[in-house]
Amino acid sequence: MNILVTGGTGYIGSHTCVELLNSNHSVVIVDNLINSKIETIDKIQEITGKDVVFYEKDVTNKESVDEIFSNHKFDGIIHFAGLKAVGESVSKPLDYYFNNLVSTMVLSKACIKYGVNKFVFSSSATVYGDNKVPFIETMELLKTTNPYGETKAMSERILTDTSLANSEFSVALLRYFNPVGAHESGLIGESPNGIPNNLMPFVSKVAKGELKKLSIFGDDYNTVDGTGVRDYIHVVDLAIGHVSAIEKLNSGVNVYNLGTGKGTSVLEIVNAFKEVNKIDIPYEIVERRPGDIASCYADANKAKKELNWEAKKDINEMVRDSWRFEKNYNI
Ligand code: NAD
Ligand code: UD1
Repeated sequence: MNILVTGGTGYIGSHTCVELLNSNHSVVIVDNLINSKIETIDKIQEITGKDVVFYEKDVTNKESVDEIFSNHKFDGIIHFAGLKAVGESVSKPLDYYFNNLVSTMVLSKACIKYGVNKFVFSSSATVYGDNKVPFIETMELLKTTNPYGETKAMSERILTDTSLANSEFSVALLRYFNPVGAHESGLIGESPNGIPNNLMPFVSKVAKGELKKLSIFGDDYNTVDGTGVRDYIHVVDLAIGHVSAIEKLNSGVNVYNLGTGKGTSVLEIVNAFKEVNKIDIPYEIVERRPGDIASCYADANKAKKELNWEAKKDINEMVRDSWRFEKNYNI
């Protein structure tokens, strides 16, 4: 297949491009580089030994999107492009609603216009809100706690309605749990700007000595050791999940959790990082972070049954690969 990947120089997008190319698909990337670097294109090509076409364009711009769709014949699109910082979405809601919703609408319209009938969308487990774990696709979605989460819930509805009105237009709504880790080459990975908000990049910066210690947000949750529990998934497993989703896409709207189905606590992550990488991670327990929930993990059976996909890499591989990339990056 010839696949358009929006946000393809970003963290999850770059790993997915590698797996698409490894599965003999061809890839056209569009990214405005607001949260990624052009060098990632070379790294994708270096890892796979294959070429990609790259457009530095904004996918909220209808003319730019039109130009790309008229230059190529796509079999499908994977739409990663979006803004994703939860805290920033609270202070800049309009930027988030504009970027994340307009991009989804402009791209859907282009798909209908040019007859591109497979649309894979990056959603998030955040759409489940504070539901009972494990989260399963059939659950009623609860209110999200921030504009970022709302853009994911709204994009899911936009794509669902578009598919209902256009029977040829098939959609996969992929709800990611907590992507971590990096490609084993150490060439691509997650490189957030400034001080990271998410756990694994923060732990990696502490390991590197760039940050003094980790603050663990609460140890009084009703979990195995009182710290928050999440379903961490290796980004390469997640990337392979996208290849399965686009290759096996059924007609209509298809919702899939992409997680491992296993919860891991903050302390378990810290201990695995220390043991596998033989490096100390100083930490202190602080207040809970507002908006956090105690536990979030997937029921991952639907993707296994319908897409024949399941996550294979364990926590030890996640912390090993996160650290390898962190050491290689910026040196
Ligand atoms: P990322 O920031 O690394 O990648 C997103 C890419 O999109 C970046 O390269 C950015 O430059 C690009 N982009 C943003 N707006 C654009 C626009 N208007 N036009 C063109 N390019 C644009 O983020 P990521 O972690 O790879 O996430 C990819 C997608 O998955 C996002 O939609 C995100 O919300 C979603 N998601 C991420 C996580 C996570 O924990 N990383 C979890 C759930 C869902
Ligand atoms: C966060 C977002 C969520 C988004 C997801 C993407 C919030 C409130 N939620 O989820 O909307 O979809 O990222 O990956 O930001 N922790 C610490 N110390 C830290 C950082 C995190 O103890 O410095 C703890 C958190 O309390 C949580 C766990 O580590 O229990 C994971 O946190 P994080 O990596 O930020 O992910 P989520 O909170 O699951």
